Amino acid sequence: MLTADRMRFVHEGQSEGYEFSFAAEPGVVTAISGASGSGKSTLLDLVAGFLKPMSGSLVLDGVDLLPLPPEGRPVSLLLQADNLFDHLSADDNVRLGLPRNAGQGAGQLISNALTEVGLGRVEKQLARTLSGGQKQRVALARTLLRARPVLLLDEPFSALDDETRIAMRQTVGELTQRHGWHTLLVSHHLDDIAALAGRHYRIEQGKLLPA
Ligand SMILES: Nc1ncnc2c1ncn2[C@@H]1O[C@H](COP(=O)(O)OP(=O)(O)OP(=O)(O)O)[C@@H](O)[C@H]1O
Ligand SMILES: [Mg+2]
Repeated sequence: MLTADRMRFVHEGQSEGYEFSFAAEPGVVTAISGASGSGKSTLLDLVAGFLKPMSGSLVLDGVDLLPLPPEGRPVSLLLQADNLFDHLSADDNVRLGLPRNAGQGAGQLISNALTEVGLGRVEKQLARTLSGGQKQRVALARTLLRARPVLLLDEPFSALDDETRIAMRQTVGELTQRHGWHTLLVSHHLDDIAALAGRHYRIEQGKLLPA
């Protein structure tokens, strides 16, 4: 279980701050919605460690995450776009999810991950030549190899057409369940939330409310 308890933060120059409390279960997609500027990305940045809360707690299965730097947190982050290095091939982008010393089995792991997200034949293609949906799947495949138990998704489907979005969200739901990830999904698409989320919070006036 990933839990935040009264995690407080105020952006520089802002008068109103945030106080976030939530609980996210493993294997479940927890959706976060709220108006533009309500603090959704701020919440993900706090969980990822890019921002430091002034007080409160953030705990994963009994482990305090707040002292850990971003690179030491058990967290992967997927944005709306621009998750890949354009000049690298699909499989080299996925390879970045593996430790440097992954060794001989790496090729197979990469190819398995690409297959698991529904991509097979694009391995050698440069990232900049992939479609938006293919790029998001490559980024998901990298996330798979990173094998971090917390997955943060900031509007990951919003640049995709309806059909691709529906296929992608199904993949995210399946991977979350199969790997027991704690997935936090920021989305303003209520149909994505209805189809995917086991729990739904809305940010209002700096707080997370059950929606
Ligand atoms: N680094 C920063 N310094 C000061 N204020 C910031 C900073 N980053 C974000 N803000 C402000 O904090 C508020 C919340 O921003 P945030 O990016 O979390 O919103 P959001 O809910 O993700 O919005 P959107 O749906 O448009 O992505 C906004 O008013 C924004 O201007
Ligand atoms: Mg945002």
